[in-house]
Amino acid sequence: MALKIRNRTKTICITSGKGGVGKTTVVSNMAYALALRGKRVLIFDGDLGMANVDIMFGVKPDGNILDVLHGEKEIDQVLVPLAPNIALIPGGSGVVELSRLNAFERRSLLDAVSTLDYHYDYLLIDTAPGIADNVLYLNSASQVSSVIITPDPSSLADSYALIKVLHQEYKENNFSIICNQVRDETEGLQLFNRFNDVVNRFLSIGLDYWGALPMDNLYRKSTQNQRLIMKHEPQSEAAKYLLQISRQLESSLEKQQDKAGLQFFWEQVVGVA
Ligand SMILES: Nc1ncnc2c1ncn2[C@@H]1O[C@H](COP(=O)(O)OP(=O)(O)O)[C@@H](O)[C@H]1O
Ligand SMILES: [Mg+2]
Repeated sequence: MALKIRNRTKTICITSGKGGVGKTTVVSNMAYALALRGKRVLIFDGDLGMANVDIMFGVKPDGNILDVLHGEKEIDQVLVPLAPNIALIPGGSGVVELSRLNAFERRSLLDAVSTLDYHYDYLLIDTAPGIADNVLYLNSASQVSSVIITPDPSSLADSYALIKVLHQEYKENNFSIICNQVRDETEGLQLFNRFNDVVNRFLSIGLDYWGALPMDNLYRKSTQNQRLIMKHEPQSEAAKYLLQISRQLESSLEKQQDKAGLQFFWEQVVGVA
């Protein structure tokens, strides 16, 4: 009998310099797209903000990673099933504590999450915007930082600042870009090229392009009504773009092995390794 060897969990941080650029909606819809393609996806909600992944899926978490840190709950008890093949670990107020845990808390968190290793194909991390400590930790622990940019000049400036600090202080080189809220694919590609040129020139790193997601009224309305467009309107334009982006995610992660695995991710986050 052939032994089926599973790949280690691939870890992707969806992040941004500025808030409101589309992280949470992209994470939620991309998780759904990947699940439709037969992948198992774990989402870690690393943002304390308001409009979070739980709301997108219409669930109410009963606890978060803080309860695990304090030894009050097992990881299985805070894990929320969102849809077939998709589960959520709510970060809640525990997120800010991740980068300053004591030895006991580190150990208990690692023990807890190590029981989950190999059960998921992807870990998608939704972060807060900006360069707060916990955002940098989550990014540097993941295999890829996927930065969402928009044509808004302040989004570009803040994204550049984020990439710069991750590259210079955390030695990160793996960045992929999603261009959101653009007019069309052409504007997305132009935006990427412009941004890539600047990053290339001043930081000497090249960025990967994962695609564009045009400004779309149906997408906005679906989100407002807590309806995942990927689930409810799979034939829509926006869903097609999201599917394209998730295919790009899959193929770009296929080539990468280093820093893979849930255990590795959490070790980095809590600063053990
Ligand atoms: N391509 C788009 N077209 C229309 N509205 C969008 C698009 N991307 C994001 N939005 C809207 O922008 C708002 C912020 O998105 P969200 O995913 O919550 O951003 P973030 O998590 O980065 O703060 C939401 O109301 C969402 O529906
Ligand atoms: Mg968000």
